[in-house]
Amino acid sequence: MTQAPKNLQTIETHILELQSMHPSASGDFTGLLSDITFAAKVISREVNKAGLVDIIGATGDQNVQGEVVQKLDEFANNVFLKCLGTRNQVCIMGSEELAEPVFIDSEGGSGNYIVVFDPLDGSSNIDANVSVGTIFGIWKRKSRRNKVDKEDLLQAGCEQVAAGYVIYGSSTMFVYTAGHGVHGFTLDPSLGEFLLSHEHITTPFTGKIYSVNEAYEPQWSPEVREVVRQIKYGHDTKSQRTDAPTSGAGKSTRYIGSLVADFHRNLLYGGIYLYPPTKNKTQGKLRLMCEAAPLAMIAEGAGGYASDGKQNIMDIVPTDMHMRVPLYIGSRGDVMWIENELSKKG
Ligand code: AHG
Ligand code: MN
Ligand code: MN
Repeated sequence: MTQAPKNLQTIETHILELQSMHPSASGDFTGLLSDITFAAKVISREVNKAGLVDIIGATGDQNVQGEVVQKLDEFANNVFLKCLGTRNQVCIMGSEELAEPVFIDSEGGSGNYIVVFDPLDGSSNIDANVSVGTIFGIWKRKSRRNKVDKEDLLQAGCEQVAAGYVIYGSSTMFVYTAGHGVHGFTLDPSLGEFLLSHEHITTPFTGKIYSVNEAYEPQWSPEVREVVRQIKYGHDTKSQRTDAPTSGAGKSTRYIGSLVADFHRNLLYGGIYLYPPTKNKTQGKLRLMCEAAPLAMIAEGAGGYASDGKQNIMDIVPTDMHMRVPLYIGSRGDVMWIENELSKKG
């Protein structure tokens, strides 16, 4: 006899429970998260059949940052633009794929939320059937004026009201936080529903994994090179910080080259992801608003931490929607050790 599954909870009911904790909530935020989960299902369906139809491969165009745009990038971007704000909850949408933010109904001033997203992260991996993802951060508008402007858009990570990512892997998972813990849901393709599979994700204080593209070592600063060397060989544990890692053993490398997938694995197992500055990319490669800040909120919600090497990623106020930052993210003790080492030296 088939046993009834326990605690069958969909993402919708989970979000509604969240709403019931705020009796004055209008339902706009709940509706927005629900729009995002729907977009994730549509993208998941296309990613899963990418090998079957003639959709994979580059379009030949380049995006605003000069990178090759993949067809699925475009598709995912369009899905997000179409699915978000179906109830006029959104006033600004910002995408990695668009040079300029989209201001919605700025005359009427409708919409309380700003959503910035990377519609498809790790897209250079698509042709090889490697996991890709979607990342999003949600902010609330500051202005009470009718017209929203760049001030509403350019807010620090700590002002986010929610953040999350979707990983299109061996199964599709939706992980989000709205400030009450980090929760993961796995898509049941037969039901078309995200079901709660990872409630209250917490990440170990230190981990055994480090994830960095070491081919850039010749382009790193001596300080970064030394930090990575110590991560690899094990380092002095007699740090003055009481929250420094306790294990001096060296770590193992795991690097997929898809930030969402590398981050997700490290979140579950413990570890650190590094994208340091290089000679060519003095601010690293990753974008603050659509990659670093949302993942920093998830990391913090799970007990981890994210730094640009000097300060908390969450404290950085963007000067541009496409601003890039160096990123060190994951297990709290490990990232704090890196920040401490880099700030001692530089
Ligand atoms: P995107 O596909 O959204 O442009 O992001 C790619 C990012 C990230 O997913 C990954 O961790 C990183 O690029 C890999 O960069 P390198 O190839 O320089 O290591
Ligand atoms: Mn990306
Ligand atoms: Mn992308």
